[in-house]
Amino acid sequence: MKKYLVIGNPVKHSLSPKLHNYWFKKNNIDAIYEKKLIKENDVEKLISEVRNKKLDGINVTVPFKQVVISYVDELSLEAKESQSVNTIFRKDNKILGHNTDISGFELAIRSKGYDIKNKKVFILGAGGVVPSIILGLKKMGVGKIFLSNRTHSKAIKLKEIFSDLEIIKWGEIAEFNMIINATSIGLNSNDEIKLNYSAIGSNKLFYDVIYNPKQTNFLVNAKKFGNQTENGKMMFIYQAHQSFTIWHKVMPKIDEETIKLLD
Ligand code: ATR
Repeated sequence: MKKYLVIGNPVKHSLSPKLHNYWFKKNNIDAIYEKKLIKENDVEKLISEVRNKKLDGINVTVPFKQVVISYVDELSLEAKESQSVNTIFRKDNKILGHNTDISGFELAIRSKGYDIKNKKVFILGAGGVVPSIILGLKKMGVGKIFLSNRTHSKAIKLKEIFSDLEIIKWGEIAEFNMIINATSIGLNSNDEIKLNYSAIGSNKLFYDVIYNPKQTNFLVNAKKFGNQTENGKMMFIYQAHQSFTIWHKVMPKIDEETIKLLD
């Protein structure tokens, strides 16, 4: 039986095992997928388990998406560009690191029918997932990206990689068509991002990378003021779908049942 893991810290809220194990059953694949809470010094050993075939693949979540880079043999173009790996697998006796967050984000936005072309997008946060979101936006032809982060130096680091970013002071607002919460504010149900919703106005797209809880205060408030909203659930499903397809050479179905599974 093949074995797969999602590694992270924290990892207990990850829905990856539920989704992958569901697709194993649906596609008659003899495999198991588990979550594992790890520390940074466990990374090397776990990747060596992929090398010696004790494990067949690993998904990587916060905060290890960068750390794992130094332990794999090769990076895909996407992983290189984003300096972020969420999918690890063996190919011709080499360990490959790949990133499916970029296409996960792109497919989520495209499947919503939202056209990013020439739009202004305001990103809140500068954590691990942000380079993938920026690359996804660029692939879809975004007009301009503004970015704001509590810790200014982290925003500046991103600007060193993506020179056309415009950095906004934390607490200030850029003019935008779409705003993305890529911070961890909202994971706890009473978390609140301080935004002047009435000044922002209506008919914008508010996107939250968080999908659990389903409706962060960011999305609840946005709706109250007449905006479109979307949480990170489809991005999560699509990134998992891409990993699954690479590992098993099978494209599982994303239907109502799959989507409901994660409610
Ligand atoms: P990492 O930074 O390790 O990749 P992450 O969960 O991907 O972790 O990112 C957390 C993001 O949420 C960061 O942008 C963080 O801002 P800082 O860089 O200033 O830490 C942001 N964040 C978390 N809690 C926050 C809070 N209470 N107020 C503002 N930003 C917050």
